[in-house]
Amino acid sequence: MSARPTLQAGRRPVTIPSLFELKRSGTPIVMVTAYDYPSARAAEAADVDMVLVGDSGAMTVLGHPSTTQVTTDEMLVLTKAARRGVDHAFLVADLAFGSYEVSDEQAIATAVRFIKEAGADAVKLERGDPSSISRARAIVGAGIPVVGHVGLTPQSATSLGGYRAQGRTADSAVRIADGALGLQDAGCFCIVFEAVPSALTSELMPHMTVPIIGIGAGPATDGQVLVFHDLLGIREGVGAKFVRRYADLQDAMDDGVAQYAKEVRTGVFPGPEHGYGMDEAELAKFRTLRDQLDS
Ligand code: KIV
Repeated sequence: MSARPTLQAGRRPVTIPSLFELKRSGTPIVMVTAYDYPSARAAEAADVDMVLVGDSGAMTVLGHPSTTQVTTDEMLVLTKAARRGVDHAFLVADLAFGSYEVSDEQAIATAVRFIKEAGADAVKLERGDPSSISRARAIVGAGIPVVGHVGLTPQSATSLGGYRAQGRTADSAVRIADGALGLQDAGCFCIVFEAVPSALTSELMPHMTVPIIGIGAGPATDGQVLVFHDLLGIREGVGAKFVRRYADLQDAMDDGVAQYAKEVRTGVFPGPEHGYGMDEAELAKFRTLRDQLDS
């Protein structure tokens, strides 16, 4: 039996044609990451258009130092949990590093698992080099919608010289343009631009016929994506330049757990209102029974 919440009247599920319609009409597309049921429900409550089970979950919920450590099996667990919470938004799952680079066949087999086992609507892969374009084309050819991702692609951050903006030189900008156009030509129905100069995005947008979702790519894209934990302040340290914090939940969580620990240690919690009552007669009977056991 499916645990998926039922569709609410008047809210139609987001589809690929409806995303293209948002682009055509100039209505900003809202995407946010989610990695479990509560984050997916928060995304649904906000009526976002797209939910991304990003491999950023490697860091935000699994505690890895980078996205490259997460496995397909772990991504499937996160995607299944998010799927249970998403009923209207379009659900995209990231392909884990190492799960699609070897061959087109490997890429198709991995993508199929996200559709079949986890109920994702589409998969996302990183980089716009010829091999990633080939993988995107192969997965699309297998009938699975694909989101591309160019600019700062965290899976290859080491090769890119770290977590830094891309496309700031003419040569680097050409690589991003080639990648974006190549992925679009390969059949990607949507592409993420991450950490690229706003001016470069503006140059590229007239050539992009598919919805472009930006993160640190300026305001010219068709939509925006932020990482759930970044926008809610569920993290230690400072986030990337492109993050705006809309809440400080890490502070709220730390304070809440610290208060709980203090109250347990000082005997303030639990109070009488947190306990269950027992009929006096039943208690007396229990004592009699216990005495019989003891004798
Ligand atoms: O993994 C992720 O969260 C992403 C977004 C930042 C686009 O790829």
